[in-house]
Amino acid sequence: MTDPSPEAWRRVDAYLTETLVGHDPDLEAAVAEQQSAGLPAIEVAPVSGKLLHLLARISGSRRVLEIGTLGAYSTIWMARGIPVDGVVVTIEAEPDIAAIARANVDRAGVGAKVDIRTGRGEHVLPTLQEEPPFDLVFIDADKESNTIYLDWAARLGHPGTVVVVDNIGRGGEVADPATTASNVIGTQRGLEMLGRDPRFDATALQTLDSKGWDGVAIAVLTDAAALPVTE
Ligand code: DHB
Ligand code: MG
Repeated sequence: MTDPSPEAWRRVDAYLTETLVGHDPDLEAAVAEQQSAGLPAIEVAPVSGKLLHLLARISGSRRVLEIGTLGAYSTIWMARGIPVDGVVVTIEAEPDIAAIARANVDRAGVGAKVDIRTGRGEHVLPTLQEEPPFDLVFIDADKESNTIYLDWAARLGHPGTVVVVDNIGRGGEVADPATTASNVIGTQRGLEMLGRDPRFDATALQTLDSKGWDGVAIAVLTDAAALPVTE
């Protein structure tokens, strides 16, 4: 088998998306609104949105934490995978973007299951310690902070919590030990933490989809995540 050309893997992604994901007016409207607001088209690919949705269902998640809302594309996918009395708490740093996300989740009919907290992750995350633990955590914000977000995921979850990190391939740059890009270094630090920190058991998959060559890390919190945190 030869390595795929861009035309070939784009055709495969389109085929898989048509065959298994299909079209959805509310998700497509969320992307369109995001685009007309001038936001970058960095939401997850449809096949990955469906993966997040399935992970929510497979894990029986009721409480989901998302770090990095953008136009709420992935938020909608995950909200559709939890029960009516479940919640996706999603953190968005920019108030203008949070307003777009709110309109998108409401249009999609999942507004009652989505709690958008506006503020930077490092400020919002400590406030969640008073709330029940999360069953699924999706990290998709500034990559420089991935280790901080992973630490919070371990603190705010429970043994068995599923943790997903977006953008772990970065067009192959993740395997470059000499990279100087701060977002790639942040991604590498996050992966190293997933490999070393006893609170996580993790793997990662490269992805080739409508967002190009990237990847996703998937972890579960171990019993070590139940131990008290020493500051
Ligand atoms: C970028 C961020 C993302 O979360 C993503 O999925 C793709 C790109 C970025 O900052 O470039
Ligand atoms: Mg991303």
